[in-house]
Amino acid sequence: MRILVVVASQTGRTARMADAFAEGAREAGAQVSVQAADETEPDDILEVDALAVGSGVHMGGIESSLRAFFERLSPLWMQGALTGKVGAAFASAGLGARGGAELALVGIWAHFAEQGMLTIPMHNRVDGFSRAGCHWGPIAWTTPRGGEAGPTADHLKACRAHGRWVAECTERWKRADEPG
Ligand SMILES: Cc1cc2nc3c(=O)[nH]c(=O)nc-3n(C[C@H](O)[C@H](O)[C@H](O)COP(=O)(O)O)c2cc1C
Repeated sequence: MRILVVVASQTGRTARMADAFAEGAREAGAQVSVQAADETEPDDILEVDALAVGSGVHMGGIESSLRAFFERLSPLWMQGALTGKVGAAFASAGLGARGGAELALVGIWAHFAEQGMLTIPMHNRVDGFSRAGCHWGPIAWTTPRGGEAGPTADHLKACRAHGRWVAECTERWKRADEPG
């Protein structure tokens, strides 16, 4: 089973979440590659079973390089080429108080929905859910007032656990889809 992790990360925080997600997915037996959004082309996605997408939050939503990436996928929408692939999301955001992290995650989910993809939520038994959990996917708070700057060990643990869960779900779905 193959998973591609695409990340939009200007200062490297969401990229660390991507690496933790990839590590967890590998623990569950997936072959995983991690790529920057601005270096990912539509063809890169055709061969994978699942696409995990992470973004730093910019001005209340996803980063512009990620938006451009999703727009580059429109020819695949015309062909229905991503229908039935699995999707997962994660994000890092500043203070928490400013908002945008959930909107960024839901924004990523909306693109998956548009492409007919099956998106995996982060359920409340995933390891680390209590610290970095959100049902749309893990969130790291990177500049909290008075707290530890993320992604913290707890945030990364949540990403790793979600990566494992997404890979397990992808494997089940792939098996269910096989003939006979
Ligand atoms: C241009 C810009 C806009 C941002 N807008 C928001 C925002 O709306 N809400 C928020 O919580 N954090 C915001 N941040 C903070 C980033 O989301 C945060 O630092 C994040 O961890 C960066 O991720 P990265 O290191 O992967 O780029 C913004 C940062 C930049 C540079």
